[in-house]
Amino acid sequence: MPHTLYLVPSGGGVGLTSVALGLVRALDNRGTRVAFFKPIAQLEGNDTGPERSTHFIRHSGSLKPTAPLPLEDAARLILSHRSDELLERILRDFHASAGDADVVVVEGLAHTHDALGEGNLNRELVRTLSAEVLLVGSLGATPLSEFESHLEICARQYGGVGPGHVIGCFVNRIPARDNRSRVSGVGELGPGRLTFSKPDFNPIGLIPENPELAACRTIDIARQLQAEIVHEGEIKSRRAKKITLLARTVPNLIDTLVAGSILVTPGDRADVVLAVALAAINKVPISGLILTGGIELSPAVLELCRPALATGLPVLQVRTNTWETANQLAQMSPEIPIDDLERVQRGMDFVASHIDTDWIARHTQIPVETRMSPAAFCYRLTELARAAHKRIVLPEGTEPRTVRAAAICAERGIARCVLLGDPAEVRRVAEAQEVELPPTVEILDPTSLRENYVAPLVEMRKHKGLSRQSAAEFLEDNVWLGTMMLALGEVDGLVSGAVHSTANTIRPALQLIKTKPGAKVVSSIFFMCLPEQVLVYGDCAVIPDPDASTLADIAIQSADSAARFGIAPSVAMISYSTGESGSGSDVDKVREATRIAKSSRPDLALDGPLQYDAAAIPDVAASKAPKSPVAGHATVFIFPDLNTGNTTYKAVQRSANVVSIGPMLQGLRRPVNDLSRGALVEDIVYTIALTCIQADQR
Ligand code: ACO
Repeated sequence: MPHTLYLVPSGGGVGLTSVALGLVRALDNRGTRVAFFKPIAQLEGNDTGPERSTHFIRHSGSLKPTAPLPLEDAARLILSHRSDELLERILRDFHASAGDADVVVVEGLAHTHDALGEGNLNRELVRTLSAEVLLVGSLGATPLSEFESHLEICARQYGGVGPGHVIGCFVNRIPARDNRSRVSGVGELGPGRLTFSKPDFNPIGLIPENPELAACRTIDIARQLQAEIVHEGEIKSRRAKKITLLARTVPNLIDTLVAGSILVTPGDRADVVLAVALAAINKVPISGLILTGGIELSPAVLELCRPALATGLPVLQVRTNTWETANQLAQMSPEIPIDDLERVQRGMDFVASHIDTDWIARHTQIPVETRMSPAAFCYRLTELARAAHKRIVLPEGTEPRTVRAAAICAERGIARCVLLGDPAEVRRVAEAQEVELPPTVEILDPTSLRENYVAPLVEMRKHKGLSRQSAAEFLEDNVWLGTMMLALGEVDGLVSGAVHSTANTIRPALQLIKTKPGAKVVSSIFFMCLPEQVLVYGDCAVIPDPDASTLADIAIQSADSAARFGIAPSVAMISYSTGESGSGSDVDKVREATRIAKSSRPDLALDGPLQYDAAAIPDVAASKAPKSPVAGHATVFIFPDLNTGNTTYKAVQRSANVVSIGPMLQGLRRPVNDLSRGALVEDIVYTIALTCIQADQR
């Protein structure tokens, strides 16, 4: 897991891109394996791209970040309620850009007054990428105390200042030393440091104002004015440090003939032109002469200027008068043109030289506390499922949500689904919902299949004395039929339960698929997609009242399942009492289960009994269970019985409006998963995906 540093602007025009690119350069210079990612491109006005930051990174080193998603595409997905697709796409691009980097610098969305709200998107992306935030502010003439309050307000929107949230800030455009007297709080600006009143607000980049970096090339001015180039000279390398309108007499303009100046004068001022030419001959590298009013230089004057032109002096001519020309120059975009890589390089080096990379290096050595965001979890599910290429049977083949989910799985390459049901009925259901069933969705008619499975079923249950007639009756139920297909290895997994009860879905699996070696029982977990993090709850669906050793088995299986799905297990054995504070058979059972689980899996971070708040909330943990290795940051919650587990999962799901994926059965030889009868199409798709992954892990 790389450290992901997400740069958020504290306002408009703060120099977000310059700071992001400078940070990449600073880390690269230090030898850190760094990557860059820009999730969303905000092109303005007539800008047709490519998006600048990504383009500059691609052309200034070896990094090859993916192209960001255009803002219009992101807006379309959000407005059509397909945010999950948007986040999935961004995660895919993020991983492609990150490669095997240790630190990924993410340039967030710049501040605009867009209706979409870049703040909301930035917050969502910070969560999705499990990133830490670095704020970027521009000091300019703002009093330091005001600047700090502004940063603090921004920081609050990202969970405040502290590890895992806002870890520092960049202060850009600090006035040059001479101008600092204009800034109140000047005393606090020490040499190279800046002291905030809040000590943990880490200013890791203090970047002075540098007018040199704003100097565009003469060619950029020519493009802005749509000027005719009378003489090209060094138009691509000379830069405009100062622009002066020349209407004075020659003796009064001599002090303007300095290196880096762009001089604007009417085309009929041959005296001024000759004075400029003379300065050029005297080795003053003037950046350009602009002749206004559409008046061409006479051939004789041009001839006289030849030696000056030979020094590289660019000469432009425009149709507009001097005043209009000045107006157009005032509207030059501060953005660096796409082909001005030299300016980009200088900007990157300058910003990099003002960043405290020691601090970043120290911080990024702290192992990342893995906090799997819901979007990252769902992305992982679909990616792993795609890679697994599994065939999943759906016994409720004529159920509308199931039909839709099968089509989505085929379209997105998540699984090859087999719908059990009368083909005409399946097609009618699909048509009614305007779902086009791709050819990769198989439809099998149960009436033509059942007979094939009677004998194998009788064989499997002969120790229970199952008759042929009873077997045939069982197979009338598609869940039994699908489970037989799975037991015989004809499919890789089964998902059902949109119509059937949990008991009806899993009983055939318990009888025919059986527990896998090493598992004592079949139990279940839910993946609870809380806003910040995915947590695992077990068992909330299968075993009504486990004894201590069964509870220990559930805990171990749940920890292993969590790890398999990328969630670092920190297991809390939940009870109404924390540590030694309570007594009674219910608490004793949890205490005993904890002991058994710890002794059989000493490698696991596992503790109990813990109350839910002590397990989940660091502040409560600090007072109730200060020595617990798990309390305060548990990721796997094991409930003492089904009453508690099922009630808690439903309470959290419904009251906090949390997506819960599951129940995912664990401990079976082959994967079978149950759906809640209220499952949404999306839930069915994710359940199919996790079934594919379980099948792949067998
Ligand atoms: N692990 C492994 N095997 C098991 C388990 C288990 N947890 N439970 C039962 N079995 C085995 C039995 O040993 C038996 O095997 P055998 O026939 O080969 O000897 C077989 O499964 C069937 O046993 P039954 O006695 O028919 O099953 P039982 O009546 O115990 O039912 C069931 C099992 C369906 C899981 C039951 O415990 C149950 O109803 N649990 C609660 C389900 C529920 O309602 N959950 C809440 C709602 S879910 C939700 O809200 C999403």
